[in-house]
Amino acid sequence: MPRKILVAVAWPYVNGEPHLGHIAGMVVPADIFARFHRIIGNEVAMVSGSDMHGTPTALKAAEEGVAPEVVAMRYHEIWSKALSDMSFAYDLYTHTHTDRHSEVVQELFTTLREKGHLVEATQSMPFSETEQRFLSDRFVEGTCPHCGHESARGDQCDNCNRTLDPIDLINIRSKRDGSTPVFKDTTHQMLKLGDFQKQLEEWVTGKDEWRPNVRNQTLGMLREGLHDRAITRDIEWGVEVPIEGWESKRIYVWFEAVLGYLSAARAWGEQQGKPDEWKKFWVHPEGESYYFQGKDNVSFHTIMLPSILLGKGGLNLPTDVVANEYLNIGGLEFSKSTGNAIWVTDFLSRYEADPLRYYLASIMPETSDSEFTWEGFHAANNNELVATFGNFVHRIITITTRNFGNAVPTPFELDDDDKAVLEACDLALKEVSEAIDGRRFRDGLRAAMRLARHGNQYVDSKEPWKVVKIDKEAAGTTLWVGLNIISTLRTVFYPYLPTSADKIHSMLFNAGAETAEGSNTLADGWKRREIVPGTPIAKPEPLFRKLDVSIIEEENNRLAGA
Ligand code: MF3
Ligand code: ZN
Repeated sequence: MPRKILVAVAWPYVNGEPHLGHIAGMVVPADIFARFHRIIGNEVAMVSGSDMHGTPTALKAAEEGVAPEVVAMRYHEIWSKALSDMSFAYDLYTHTHTDRHSEVVQELFTTLREKGHLVEATQSMPFSETEQRFLSDRFVEGTCPHCGHESARGDQCDNCNRTLDPIDLINIRSKRDGSTPVFKDTTHQMLKLGDFQKQLEEWVTGKDEWRPNVRNQTLGMLREGLHDRAITRDIEWGVEVPIEGWESKRIYVWFEAVLGYLSAARAWGEQQGKPDEWKKFWVHPEGESYYFQGKDNVSFHTIMLPSILLGKGGLNLPTDVVANEYLNIGGLEFSKSTGNAIWVTDFLSRYEADPLRYYLASIMPETSDSEFTWEGFHAANNNELVATFGNFVHRIITITTRNFGNAVPTPFELDDDDKAVLEACDLALKEVSEAIDGRRFRDGLRAAMRLARHGNQYVDSKEPWKVVKIDKEAAGTTLWVGLNIISTLRTVFYPYLPTSADKIHSMLFNAGAETAEGSNTLADGWKRREIVPGTPIAKPEPLFRKLDVSIIEEENNRLAGA
């Protein structure tokens, strides 16, 4: 029975372009996980979209003097293109400003209200006298009462990740014009998170396989006790509150954005003419769901979303919330002009996606913050991808096509080295699969690279380029084994480096007319596809491009804004 796996990727705010931190933290792991589960034959839906509402986009729009839609749609296009240029294979990448999304959100809001999980309360909220309007969330900043961070926002502190209310902020000021707001009463709908305290405690207690940061953050919040949380706001940009007389208010962006996973799964099924498809993941008792994100999103996925789902009833809670720490841009002083960010679109104008996917997966901030450096990227590309993986593939295929007329040689007797390296192929398949399924993506990549290294040592010791001149059968055996290693590398690297895996596939399996149609990496499943003697293979084409050492300085200067 195939497993049913929802791969739920955090929804980026569209108030700016994607940078490497965004994709390293949430999309690279999600895409590896989704591709792996597809290739082993599970049913996968990878969904997400742009988080358009709330104050992040509204604030940016106000700065530019345009409507929020304009900013949201502009960055949505940029994000969509960058994500597809990175070969991230979403089943659906949509956005939250759709009718389908609003309907689903309002439906859940209303159900929760009918079931008594919402309560109306009057709250004291910051009000701008200069602008004659309420200021919520990112419209205000001030000092965090918990950690002293000076630019905490009205809803969350970026430093200690605690959720806040504006009234908690010390030294509060408007982000829109710097003025000091007064506090004025306003009425909101509150979600009674306390209703779910017990169920959440039981649920989280059983989650031994979660990463410690996620579990501990969540248990910490449960220990402090859950309180009512306002889920409406006095703003104009967002999903309308489905209550008469509440026309001037909107649903809080986090309440609606986390429901994007549900509305997007439904929309995806509908687009394929299968309106019930979403239930496989959301209702079926064996449906699994994995939520990929940065650590600042944890409470919304382990407290807020599960509370909404429990309030509604009959919907699956997250199987795991896979949160990463942060990726920093290392080795440099902070630069004001660039913000020390590396933008995905700009990166891809000079480099390929696969080397970036490789490097980001190799330094993925799984358990602690990590650093992107250009030195590191250059070394990973040249020493690991070009010199180890690419070189191995190139050598084997070149010697084969030169000496065996573009066809797979016939193996003769296998010696212990041959057998050992073929066993290493099976081991790599097992290790990579366990690591990826266990959300240990760095480990999986290391295991895949170990096989490439083993392959290199194997051909170095066998020297088929020499042996072929004196013993063609022996050389043919080595090359056949080598081609089997390449076939395995294609599989184990596929989740990480899909474009390179597909290139290998074309060289090995699509060179002959009879296999040319429809054969691809994905179709072969998670195994070492046997290399059949006599079948054609293609002339080698390089998998990776060597980078000149000068790019390090060039890129560091660019980062420093020089
Ligand atoms: N937009 C949020 C952020 O960038 C993430 C939203 S994830 C969702 O931090 F699940 F709420 F959509
Ligand atoms: Zn703080």
